[in-house]
Amino acid sequence: MRLENKEKFITKSLESCKYLGSEVIYYDRTDSTMEDARKLIEQQAADGSVIIAEQQTAGKGRYNRKWYSPLGGIYLSLILFREIEMQKQGLLSLTAGVASCETIKKYLPEAEIKWPNDVLFKEKKISGILIEKLGNYYSIGTGINTNTEKFEGEFLLQPTSIYLETEKEIDNNNFIINFLKKFDENYDLLANHEYNAILEKWKSMSLTIGRKVKLRNPMIKGEREIDIINIDNNGFLIAETEKGIEKIISGEIFY
Ligand code: BTN
Repeated sequence: MRLENKEKFITKSLESCKYLGSEVIYYDRTDSTMEDARKLIEQQAADGSVIIAEQQTAGKGRYNRKWYSPLGGIYLSLILFREIEMQKQGLLSLTAGVASCETIKKYLPEAEIKWPNDVLFKEKKISGILIEKLGNYYSIGTGINTNTEKFEGEFLLQPTSIYLETEKEIDNNNFIINFLKKFDENYDLLANHEYNAILEKWKSMSLTIGRKVKLRNPMIKGEREIDIINIDNNGFLIAETEKGIEKIISGEIFY
C-alpha cells in the first residue's frame, strides 16, 4: 500500500534538491524496491525518482544474496538517468557510499566505509548498496539498519543497527531526507566531473587503504590476502599481491 502523506512530506522536503524527488513512491511493504525500480524504468521512469519501503519481503543484496528487511530499517532505490563513461561508473558506487556514511556519521561518528560502499561501525555492517544498470538508467538500492532491533538468519558480515549501537530510536523519515539530500549534494560533484572531491571524501572515511585484507570474488571460489595501497581515479583499488601491483575492480574484502 502507498502511504500518500509520507510521499507528500518527503517530496516537499526534497524541493531544494537538484536531482532527486521528481517522483516519490512510499510503500508500507513491497517485495523489493529494486524490482519496483526496474518496473518503473521499463515505463520510462522520471530521472530522480525515489522508491521507499518500510519493509521488504524479498530484499536483494549483492551477489544474489538476500537483504534482511524487517520493519525498523530503511529500504530505498533511487532512479537516475545519465550517461556515465564506462570507467567512471565505479565512482557512482563510491558516491552512494559517501552519502550513506556521511548521513550515518551524524548518529555514529565512527562509521566508516568498506570498499566500495558498505558502511560499517566497529567492523559490523550498518548499510549496503546495490546498483543495477538498465541502459542509461541506474537504480541505486540502499538498505540502512536504523532501528532494527534484532537480526535473524546467517550473515556473511555481522550486521548491527544505529539503534543497537546507540540505544536510541531514530526518526526514519528524517534520516531518509538527510540521506537523499547528501546523495544529491555528492551526485552533483559526479555530474560536474569533480571526481577528486568524491575520492578525497571517500578516502577520509575509508577503512580499506593501508590494510592487509582478504579478497573474495563470489563468482570464483577462493580467497587471497592482499595489501591495499590506494584507490585510483576511477575508484578501483590498487593492491600489492603475490603477482605484484594489481588493480582490483571487483570482489569483496574482509578483514
Ligand atoms: C549489499 O549486499 O550490501 C547490498 C544491499 C542492498 C539492499 C537494498 S534495500 C533497498 C534495495 N532493495 C533491495 O531489494 N535491495 C536494495
